[in-house]
Amino acid sequence: MINDIEQIVFTKEQISETVKRLGKQISDDYKGKNLLLVTVLKGAVVFLTDIMREITVPCSIDFMSVSSYGSGAKSSGVVKIVKDLDINLEGYDVLIIEDILDSGRTLNYIKDLLLSRNPRSVRICTLFDKPEGRVAPIEPDYVGALVPNGFIVGYGLDYNEKYRNLPYIGILKKEIYETNG
Ligand code: IMP
Ligand code: MG
Repeated sequence: MINDIEQIVFTKEQISETVKRLGKQISDDYKGKNLLLVTVLKGAVVFLTDIMREITVPCSIDFMSVSSYGSGAKSSGVVKIVKDLDINLEGYDVLIIEDILDSGRTLNYIKDLLLSRNPRSVRICTLFDKPEGRVAPIEPDYVGALVPNGFIVGYGLDYNEKYRNLPYIGILKKEIYETNG
């Protein structure tokens, strides 16, 4: 796997510090609220399991699965719900936990969908943000780190379902996704 990585951009330690900082911010902001962390499978699962343990206020978790990317590296703009949430959102302060915000098409769709279910609030926490890629009118409320255009993998992020288990974030070599994607 390491041979497919151009460069490591966030080490395990850097990610851990970022996650701690976000967890502290969220814990401060959600005192006295009814926090529900909503995670979009599968990429954000690694981030969720780390950040939930940095959150010191009561919280619940739920999952949904959508497909927007297929197996390639470019967003198709088509968002399909593959698995919906189990929890009824009424009375919850929803915080969407995302791995990476790129075009924003996926989250724009999901945020509107969740808002239509009468939660108290819906906000977005993304570990990584690629602001240059933005197409949809959506901004995250919490951002771990900005990343430049280019394809990153690791810490839950995949390319063709691979590399999710890397403990760091690396830039995938261009030849990997340009020849297969
Ligand atoms: P968006 O709808 O374009 O914002 O797509 C966001 C989703 O695309 C993320 O949740 C990831 O699953 C995927 N994605 C976007 N950029 C990357 C990347 O650099 N590496 C891995 N997955 C990515
Ligand atoms: Mg994703």
